[in-house]
Amino acid sequence: MHYIYLPEKVMPKPKSSPATSTTKQATTIMLRQPAEMKYQEELAYLATVDQGARPFSWRLSPQMVRTFVLGSTPGQKLDRQIEQKWYGDSAIAERAIVTLASDRGLLLIGDPGTGKSWLAELLAAAISGNSTYVVQGTAGTTEDQIKYSWNVAMVIATGQSLDSLIPSPLMTAMQIGAMGRFEELTRCTSDVQDALISILSEKYIAIPELKVDNIVFAHPGFNVIATANSRDRGVNELSSALKRRFNFVHMPIVTNKKQEKEIILFRTKELLNRHGFEVEVPPTLLDVLLQTFADLREASAAASSEDQRLESALSTAEQIGVLEDAILHSRYFGETTLEAGTLARSLVGTLVRRLPEDISVMNQFWHAVVEQHAQKQKGEWETFLEGGKAAMGVMKK
Ligand SMILES: Nc1ncnc2c1ncn2[C@@H]1O[C@H](COP(=O)(O)OP(=O)(O)OP(=O)(O)O)[C@@H](O)[C@H]1O
Ligand SMILES: [Mg+2]
Repeated sequence: MHYIYLPEKVMPKPKSSPATSTTKQATTIMLRQPAEMKYQEELAYLATVDQGARPFSWRLSPQMVRTFVLGSTPGQKLDRQIEQKWYGDSAIAERAIVTLASDRGLLLIGDPGTGKSWLAELLAAAISGNSTYVVQGTAGTTEDQIKYSWNVAMVIATGQSLDSLIPSPLMTAMQIGAMGRFEELTRCTSDVQDALISILSEKYIAIPELKVDNIVFAHPGFNVIATANSRDRGVNELSSALKRRFNFVHMPIVTNKKQEKEIILFRTKELLNRHGFEVEVPPTLLDVLLQTFADLREASAAASSEDQRLESALSTAEQIGVLEDAILHSRYFGETTLEAGTLARSLVGTLVRRLPEDISVMNQFWHAVVEQHAQKQKGEWETFLEGGKAAMGVMKK
């Protein structure tokens, strides 16, 4: 094996960043833009005002990456406001950023819907200007998808060479010194996870099929941002060798009502913009939603067995899902203001998954908790109560 450094020109050209290669027209027809494209103006602005030291090939200094993720503060005296995109403890974001400048990979671990993938995307966009070097971990992920594969037609025609090699997104990230992402790491089998070990420790990928030019070394600035769902623990436990190569950052479920409200409002605004329509969401209804989730979490924590708990993680993402569903329902079925009954129907429809267990948990909760709110506070809670009962009635049939 020849341990030589491969200059970029002999390697297959990595696909250029969508942020630079996409025309305006393509941008407008995209269903969902990656963060670097959606916030490209903000990122360009931050790069121009950034005075901090940038590690390796980072596009922004760690301070500016933090500003991009958590939003600007008046003390920074920037001439434009940078909005907050990820809500949570600033220490979590800082630890994640520092890890990425270190030798270790970053593993964001937590319950479903706690914003792991979103934070990973924001960090990759801010640091490398491209968040799309992603490997999606599944039970069927193979080592090829982490390292490289071959263009079979070209191999038959011209044999194995760098031209017929198809680099994985991680290999591409290594070549250009960018952040590679690995989603749902613990869903992969252990031999696939092991393939990551050499990438994270030796920082190269060997191509033993080639006689020359058979090592791809990582350029400075390369690192891996992985996510793992803590509910999947035990599906494929990480080996201790791999654990040692990651810094773990635990993502908590947001339980602070003010923070949760901000996340929900941020996402709702985005949804309405994306669809280009107006649906009024009365603040009192948002409070009904937040209170119901807080009560559901309390009931779930107090339950003594799995059967008495909803299967859902009751995360912020679930709340966003409920509200999105309700807004879309209002929009397409003729209401211009979101109503409590619609919200209750969406909540029941979104959270009841296992039949009959979830429906009986929800039914009990509705009678014990929602009914009490309705008796005490009347108004929207009463409509909410009735909407939920009607939705469960339909499901039981
Ligand atoms: N703390 C947060 N700040 C901002 N947005 C959040 C936060 N938590 C959740 N969200 C929103 O919830 C949605 C779901 O989050 P995301 O997909 O990142 O969750 P996840 O932790 O990766 O979940 P899973 O384990 O199911 O993959 C995202 O669109 C994100 O905008
Ligand atoms: Mg995710």
